[in-house]
Amino acid sequence: MNLPAPSDLTLAEKASLTSGDSTWETSAAGGRVPAAVLADGPHGIRRQDPASGDALGLRHSVPATCFPPAVTLGSSWDAELARRIGAALAAEASALDVHVVLGPGVNIKRSPLCGRNFEYFSEDPLVSGVMGAALVTGIQSLGVGACVKHFAVNNQETDRMRVSADVDERTLREIYLPAFERIVREARPYAVMTSYNKINGVYASENRWLLTELLREEWGFDGLVMSDWGAVNDRVASLAAGLDLEMPPTGTDERIVAAVRAGDLDEELVTAAAERVIQLVRRVQDVPRRDGWDVDAHHELAREAARSAAVLLKNDDGLLPLDPGAAQHVAVIGEFARTPRYQGHGSSHVVPTRLENSWDALRAAVGPATELAFAPGFTLDGKPDAALLAEAVAAARRADTALVFLGLPDQAESEGYDRTTLALPADQIEVLRAVSAVCPRVAVVLANGGVVDVASWRDAAGAILEGWLPGQAGGAALADLLLGFHSPSGRLTETIPLRLADTPAHLHFPGTDGHVVHGEGRYVGYRHYDTLDVEVAYPFGHGLSYSRFSHTDLEVTGTGDNTWTVEATVTNTGDRFAHEVVQLYIAFDEEAPSRPRHELRGFTKVGLAAGESRRVSFALTGRDLARWSPSRHCWRVDPGTFTVEIGASSRDIRLRAEAATPGDGLVDELGPMSTLGEWLDHPDGGRVLGEHLKRAGAAGLAREDSPLIGLARGIPLIKFSTFGIGLSPGTVAELVAAVRGTATH
Ligand code: BGC
Repeated sequence: MNLPAPSDLTLAEKASLTSGDSTWETSAAGGRVPAAVLADGPHGIRRQDPASGDALGLRHSVPATCFPPAVTLGSSWDAELARRIGAALAAEASALDVHVVLGPGVNIKRSPLCGRNFEYFSEDPLVSGVMGAALVTGIQSLGVGACVKHFAVNNQETDRMRVSADVDERTLREIYLPAFERIVREARPYAVMTSYNKINGVYASENRWLLTELLREEWGFDGLVMSDWGAVNDRVASLAAGLDLEMPPTGTDERIVAAVRAGDLDEELVTAAAERVIQLVRRVQDVPRRDGWDVDAHHELAREAARSAAVLLKNDDGLLPLDPGAAQHVAVIGEFARTPRYQGHGSSHVVPTRLENSWDALRAAVGPATELAFAPGFTLDGKPDAALLAEAVAAARRADTALVFLGLPDQAESEGYDRTTLALPADQIEVLRAVSAVCPRVAVVLANGGVVDVASWRDAAGAILEGWLPGQAGGAALADLLLGFHSPSGRLTETIPLRLADTPAHLHFPGTDGHVVHGEGRYVGYRHYDTLDVEVAYPFGHGLSYSRFSHTDLEVTGTGDNTWTVEATVTNTGDRFAHEVVQLYIAFDEEAPSRPRHELRGFTKVGLAAGESRRVSFALTGRDLARWSPSRHCWRVDPGTFTVEIGASSRDIRLRAEAATPGDGLVDELGPMSTLGEWLDHPDGGRVLGEHLKRAGAAGLAREDSPLIGLARGIPLIKFSTFGIGLSPGTVAELVAAVRGTATH
């Protein structure tokens, strides 16, 4: 269809394009533009049956592959896998007549209590950005649009539609925005969705700085900005700020027309928003529709993803894997083995094409010599059940090994509310303790979307496999790992703390009186624990496998102006094929930390046969060393040394090398309130001031061996006007003018 130019449209038609026609469709502007169909996402297509007539329709969607949600996919640390899943999502979207997938979600896991953490990748912006960009690239590789959400600082569900996330500028730039920035710059998503919340008092959907100055002007975003569902509070203010599309529609388009007619809104802004809606339609309308997809192949891909993401937290004495051919008794305990918890609750809920559970998968996979027995142990409503407990203990007593499937029931975590505890239900822990009292070998398999407490019960388990929410093929994937057909290769993208009270946001989360102060600043996740040496249950980046790896021969080579190549060799020193996730951190050795102890700046996942080695390589740029300067509103690279660390987790650094940067060459402008020290350290200031002091006979003030220099260096120059050494306000003004005239910027 030939699409109209905005100049061919009336003001009313243009205004109508700035809100949808229905819950899941953009506007057809009275039949002049085809409507684009939008659907959640992000880990499967939630295409609502148009006949169901249910606006929320959480459970009434057409079946689609339920891939593992972001918490799980993120734990694979495998961007190529995310890209392949993106392409599979796009194929299903296209077969279901969906033009734009509402995802990925790349908000930072600030607190483990956030009810929606299962939809997000990590506490770290690099992991979130790399995995999110790969998913967007995959989705858009078939011409389907991706819509990155929730922009920005939507890190909790409590009061999410009103709360003001109060965050300082440097923390925004270094923690909460980089994942969005990377995705916008590298993967060029067709759309971005605003969050519900306010940022420093201004609703994201009305935030001109966020939607226009930062997103479009600074990052070069050329797509469409839509609201989260119901996130618009003021149509005119949103449009003026840079929001193109209100979803779902509230029937208020005439407010836009009236505001233009009254001279309160520039018509060009309406034209620009309408043009962006038309551009989105232009981008997606000619994508060939598919007849269907290979349901088996997508199920297998979901299984591969779940397998690549489960994290082996603990494995004493090689308890796992079990030998599927051995003569043994295995008790499979826990309702989750039979009734899997495999995805989160809320708008992302997908009706799967099929569903596997671990109990069936284990039975299908073991040889005839292995005897399996199942006992549910507990119910999913959290009420203690003595009969189920006794049955589980009896099964465990007869077993050589007990596999105990524990987790959070569906109602424990969801979009819309946050958790208040990290604890697993008490009845489940009671079952675990009773089982471990009668069975010497116990492995726990976990199902949860947000991190749970493990410290209080891990002594009762020889092995712990964190399966997260593993999607529709999770049952088979977990059996693959438990029986050793594959080695676990997931790594934690979020620290597991010892106690909730240790978590960095604990004193501030989820806020009061409509505000949540991000008082921990940049010290989110491992940035907090590692800087302050806080003991944790399992650190960021941790995950065991059935093999072992060594890291050697770190080399850092400067390749140009603030660019380096980092290389290291990783060797599989065990006796079977397995994957290692090589992690690169940058550390600055500072006595009083003004930045986190170290930060992840690269990662790569490599699969190696026993004895095999591979040289891995990373590129570093000045941005990897930079800090955001709130005074100059830009990235700054300070001259000095830094340490490149190669590790297997944030607490397991295997190699270190020092390197140096000349800095970015930017020199802070001097003014009357610049200190004596800043004047002396400035390339021109020291000379200009020194000449003046010599003329005034006060050269001793600036001598580095003067006994007073330590005290004097911290004093702003203008304050010396009262010291009777010839530095009157007029003189300081002359010095400032002189240095500004000569300074190089
Ligand atoms: C969620 C979004 C979702 C939208 C549409 C909102 O409540 O926050 O993530 O895409 O609903 O279902």
